[in-house]
This record gives sequence, C-alpha cells and structure tokens, in this order.
Amino acid sequence: MSAAVQALRAGDLLILPTETVYGLAADAGNAAAVARIFEAKGRPRFNPLISHVFDAAAAEAIAVFDDTARALADAFWPGPLTIVAASRPGAVCDLARAGLDSVAVRVPGHPVAREVLAAFGGPVVAPSANRSGRPSPTILADAVEETGRFAAAALDGGACAVGVESTVVSVLEGGVALLRPGAVTREQIEGLVGGLHDDAQGHRSPGRQTTHYAPDAPVRIEATAAGDGEILLGFGPGVGEARWSLSPAGDLREAAANLFRLLREADRERPTGIAVAPVPGTGLGEAINDRLRRAAGFVG
Ligand code: TXA
Ligand code: MG
Repeated sequence: MSAAVQALRAGDLLILPTETVYGLAADAGNAAAVARIFEAKGRPRFNPLISHVFDAAAAEAIAVFDDTARALADAFWPGPLTIVAASRPGAVCDLARAGLDSVAVRVPGHPVAREVLAAFGGPVVAPSANRSGRPSPTILADAVEETGRFAAAALDGGACAVGVESTVVSVLEGGVALLRPGAVTREQIEGLVGGLHDDAQGHRSPGRQTTHYAPDAPVRIEATAAGDGEILLGFGPGVGEARWSLSPAGDLREAAANLFRLLREADRERPTGIAVAPVPGTGLGEAINDRLRRAAGFVG
C-alpha cells in the first residue's frame, strides 16, 4: 500500500482496483503524471479523465454541486456513479479535464481504492487500465497485460465485482443527462431524479465517439448460434457451452461481471469471431448492450 501511494506522490502511475474495472491511476494535480496516462493508453487528449476522491466533501472541493448532484451522491456513493459538474478552478490539472470547464468525479466503493484515496489525500485520475479502444480489465493480470509496463506499482483487489464501468451522468445546465450507461442503472437514477436527458446537446461525453471495448476478433451481437470457427458467448439456460456463458442462469449482474474477462479469454483462442447471444436491455443490461454494440463496431 505505501509503495502505491509513494508512486502517486512521485508522479508515477499505479494500477488500482475499483469495484467496476481496474484503473490506471495518477495524481490529478500533476500534469506530467496525467500526460503519462494518455501516452500509456494511447488515448486521445480530447477525452477527459474521471477524478476519484474519498468522499462527497472531497468531490465538492473540486466540483460545484447543486441539490440534484448532492442527492445522487447521497444515494449512490461510495459506488459506481460518476458525476460531471462544473469544475472549481485549479482543483485538477487542465489535461485531466481535457481543457473543459467541467470535471467528472466519483467516489469508488472498493476497499483497496478507498484505502489509497484516504492515504493519498487528494484527487486521483483513473481511466480504465486498458489500451485505448480495448476491453477494460477486470482482473489484475489483464490490467498488467494491457498497461503494466507503464506503471510503477500495482495493487491486487481480486476480480472486480461489477465488471462494467461506472455510469456517467451530467448535472450541467439543469436536469440529469445520462452520458454513459453503467453499473448504476437508468431505472435507479430515474427513481431518484425523474426523467433523464439522453446525452443531449451540451451534455456530450467526449470519450463516447470512438470505437471501444473491442477484442481482436470481430464481435457479432444478437447471435442465436456460433458460425464456423466462432465462439458463442451464451446468456441464459441451454445457450452454448457452459464455459463460454456470460451467465448460465441468465443473471445480468453475473453477465456484467464476466463480460470483459470472457471477451478477452475468447479472443486468446484466436476464433474467426466472437458471437454473443441476446442480452435483455433493461437494468444492468443497458450497460452490457452498450459495451457489446461498441465492441461490435456500432458507435454513437
Ligand atoms: O468505472 C469507471 O468509471 C472506471 C474506473 C477505473 O473508475 N474509469 C473509467 O474511466 O471508465 P474512463 O476514462 O475509461 O472513462 C471516463 C468517461 C469517458 O467516457 C469520458 O469521456 C467521460 O468519462 N468524461 C470524463 N470527464 C468528462 C467531462 N468533463 N464531461 C463529459 N464526459 C466526461
Ligand atoms: Mg475506458
């Protein structure tokens, strides 16, 4: 743990487990360290990073919250929700925000991430620890394979319980816009704040315009059977081989937790393609289908 915090203080990168996916972390106030993240991931510099903080008070030190943002924070933090709000000047470096006036903040729930944030004492940026465009890592070995050579330290937090990234909402310009479906469901947020804008004008998330989450093999969605040389990722009882099922029982939580790891494992078998059975689109299924559509090359 102290080596991990030391790495952040020294401006080095740290592989950090969260409850959603593994992150590649740096001191949000250190522009040189943040620049190293963009290089390590091959990430376009117009795509801003999420600042992770220990609690809602620390979030309000970097972002301007209205009552809606506070209600969201009360309901879902610590946990897999990211809130985009107006940035307080100078709180995180410009590069972390990609020069925007807004900042994305989240209070993670994973005990290892919380321990690091408590000991470090300031905001920590952490995009998913994959190379840009690839599936996010949900176990340490996959994070190390993707970006380990750029990190000075790595912490093992086990397999990520959630398995898909945080939900990103914006509270800019009044109302709440869903920028990225994720682990906190649309239904949960609507239950708290009422109707959502869907990525409306002025609420755009710069990272959502590029192909994402893609393994090397082509991904085909809504598949009912494996084609020649394809691996079929099943969902629900009796669909495909048990080893390659997102969830044999048809459970969305289990499917989310398995999604990126199974895409990576299937890819290692060098199939002609990865076919994925239909997954229902409600609840956590919205995030799963979003990631699958992007892995299959349907963007926007
Ligand atoms: O679960 C997660 O959120 C993981 C873990 C490590 O915390 N992190 C993660 O970070 O997924 P990343 O960088 O892969 O995704 C951040 C998303 C991108 O889509 C980015 O465009 C959006 O958040 N974002 C960040 N700052 C923003 C801003 N100011 N306005 C709009 N979108 C923003
Ligand atoms: Mg990512």
